[in-house]
Amino acid sequence: MDSIIVTGNGPLSGQIPIAGAKNACLTLMPATLLSEEPLTLTNAPRLSDIKTMTQLLQSLGAEVTSMQDGQVLVMSSHDIHNHTADYDIVRKMRASILVLGPMLARDGHAIVSLPGGCAIGARPVDLHLKGLEALGAEIELKEGYVHARAPKGRLQGGTYEMPFASVGATENVLMAATLAKGTSVLKNVAREPEIVDLADCLIRMGAQIEGAGTSTITVQGVDRLGGATHPVVTDRIELGTYMLAPAICGGEVELLGGRLDLVRAFVEKLDMAGVDVRETDNGLLVKRRVDRIQAVDVVTEPFPGFPTDLQAQMMALLCTAEGTSVLEEKIFENRFMHAPELIRMGAQIDVQGGQATVVGVDRLKGARVMATDLRASVSLILAGLAAEGETIVSRVYHLDRGYEHVVGKLESVGAKIERVQGS
Ligand code: UD1
Repeated sequence: MDSIIVTGNGPLSGQIPIAGAKNACLTLMPATLLSEEPLTLTNAPRLSDIKTMTQLLQSLGAEVTSMQDGQVLVMSSHDIHNHTADYDIVRKMRASILVLGPMLARDGHAIVSLPGGCAIGARPVDLHLKGLEALGAEIELKEGYVHARAPKGRLQGGTYEMPFASVGATENVLMAATLAKGTSVLKNVAREPEIVDLADCLIRMGAQIEGAGTSTITVQGVDRLGGATHPVVTDRIELGTYMLAPAICGGEVELLGGRLDLVRAFVEKLDMAGVDVRETDNGLLVKRRVDRIQAVDVVTEPFPGFPTDLQAQMMALLCTAEGTSVLEEKIFENRFMHAPELIRMGAQIDVQGGQATVVGVDRLKGARVMATDLRASVSLILAGLAAEGETIVSRVYHLDRGYEHVVGKLESVGAKIERVQGS
């Protein structure tokens, strides 16, 4: 297992290109199952989660060809001969459940193992299943697998109101509704940019969708979808993560491809903490304007609120702020596993249920720490960038799921960081 060694250093400067969004790509890829014609994704990120989704689609009979060093994915699902998504692949990644809606919609039946994924809470899939049932699906759970069937081979348009806005459930039901007979109305759905991106791609394939990006989506089902070429939207979580690097270390870094509309709530908090963000011709320019970061309170919420996927990284920034910050986690019940690791680096954090109180210290100290999940691992790297001495982050395989070339990208703006094998 590899480790990453970070040595605290001074201000950063330069440019970091931001990749296509992991979470968008992981829902766009299963959309290939809706059509017999090819779907091409450009601006795809090079990540292990994308490889896992590739394996899953291939296990079902889809052809997936990776071109241009992985940035272009050409997929074709003209021959889906297997309708069972096996536990061995699904357990690696929760987003695997997203093959359920498309397979069921196109062929009238699908069997998908219940998923695994990051250990950040119970994360059931009940809303995915209820949404598909609202479109007429008959669902049974047997021996850890979801068995789904559409009576007479085709889903029917229906109305589904989510009790709360789940990103994945919105995506799964939206994809299924595109091929259902009649009109579907999905209420209280998630509004994340990745959902808008999925809807844009589905519309390119011939789907009739209105309202993506608002809390009600209306879908007029069509008989078949065609092929399309679609660019994956910018990764707002990778963007936010690298925006924190100059915020923590000082200096000035331009994030190429960065878009303000993707990170507005996050940028508001950065501004309150003393960090300037400015739009440029190529993206966003980030610069710390104060000697010491100021404490701010953060509550995670569905989009357009502050994203839960940036909470761990924001905590790394606030560990050395002047004053006391309170971070409240409202999306996942167990998402402070980075706190004990940051405490090993000298942070003062008190976690009580879904709330973490961070009392800023002058400086963190390098330590050996362990990555516990994807976003937690990058928060430890960010903390290490400004800590005194050397920080060794182990179990970095979590990082490979969601960040491409993290060492190269940070090195290019002057960070002292290296990856070492086998420790
Ligand atoms: C997606 C993102 C993840 C992000 C999360 C919230 C992908 C691949 N992953 O995950 O990075 O952190 O959105 O922005 O896009 N829930 C249920 N029942 C369900 C579904 C969800 O109770 O059927 C709960 C979950 O346990 C969680 C909350 O709803 O507490 C939000 O989950 P959801 O929005 O579904 O997140 P994901 O789609 O899994």
